[in-house]
Amino acid sequence: KLKELKSLFKDDFLIGAAVTPKTIDSQKELIVQHFNSITAENEMKFERVHPLENQYSFEEADKLIEFANNHKLQMRGHTLVWHNQTPPWMFEQSDGSELEREALLSRMKAHIDTVLNRYYGKIYAWDVVNEAISDSDGQFLRDSKWRDIIGDDFIEKAFTYARAADPNALLFYNDYNEFVPEKRDKIYQLMKSMIDKGVPIDGIGLQGHWNLEYPSIDLMKEGIEKYASLGLQLHITELDVSMFLHEDKRTDLQAPTKEMLELQAIRYKEIFSLLKEYRKHITSVTFWGVADDYTWLDNFPVRGRKNWPFLFDQFHKPKQSYHELLKLN
Ligand code: XIL
Repeated sequence: KLKELKSLFKDDFLIGAAVTPKTIDSQKELIVQHFNSITAENEMKFERVHPLENQYSFEEADKLIEFANNHKLQMRGHTLVWHNQTPPWMFEQSDGSELEREALLSRMKAHIDTVLNRYYGKIYAWDVVNEAISDSDGQFLRDSKWRDIIGDDFIEKAFTYARAADPNALLFYNDYNEFVPEKRDKIYQLMKSMIDKGVPIDGIGLQGHWNLEYPSIDLMKEGIEKYASLGLQLHITELDVSMFLHEDKRTDLQAPTKEMLELQAIRYKEIFSLLKEYRKHITSVTFWGVADDYTWLDNFPVRGRKNWPFLFDQFHKPKQSYHELLKLN
């Protein structure tokens, strides 16, 4: 019998996976055997749980909560305030004109209250604000409706509302390109200013959408040290190791090459060996999926391209990447 990932890392951190109502069925065995935490890949996002102002829709999210409960899995909540997957009505008055600051703040509060109350005691950590920092040089926060209408303090407001709604949940700021130095420094600065102002925040979510080469282990190490110096917990929230480098736009590959599989295995081993070194700070590592039969990276960022980013293959068999991890310790 295969060694379970969750027991392999039991002294290090939780091991999670993003799931959907489909995959808790099609990938059930792997999820239950290897993981002790789940995240809803899409089902708790704004447009899913709150499609219209006076209509919440929790059915799909509830299925995942029930699954977590039945199998004794911890659950992370993803996500409350984000520029994507948020319906346009949120920012509009009934006549279609733009909402004003106070009105949007009270809608934001109502949304956060409703979702956190529903899952009180069932979700131990929330990605309160997702991807608010700009990737461009010379710009700090990203442009978004939230920021346009409310102002830069939409971030601290969201955290304050979340803490009030569920004082027990751990509150995270979550972002990608987390080890690109310019962006890393901006994330650090935002966190630092929130802490200095007394805004309630417990951790930083590092998405972990990485590939065979980027970011280098040195960059990761530097970033982890810098973030950890803030005294916040760190979660890797959306880990996948793409087989394609940024500039590689090929779409013709039917299966990963032997070389890719080998490189990925070495890469996973180096990554987890580093993450283990920082287990005092890193308390959870969540993959953005389970096995290579389904990943959001099929089609993204290159349409029509299949990817193979996980530890288990399309038939749910452990890959070389999984076997390399057994050699850690
Ligand atoms: C992605 C999902 O995986 C896709 O199914 C969906 O179509 C788009 O969103 N950063 C995040 C996640 O915080 O919510 C995103 O998830 C991936 C990037």
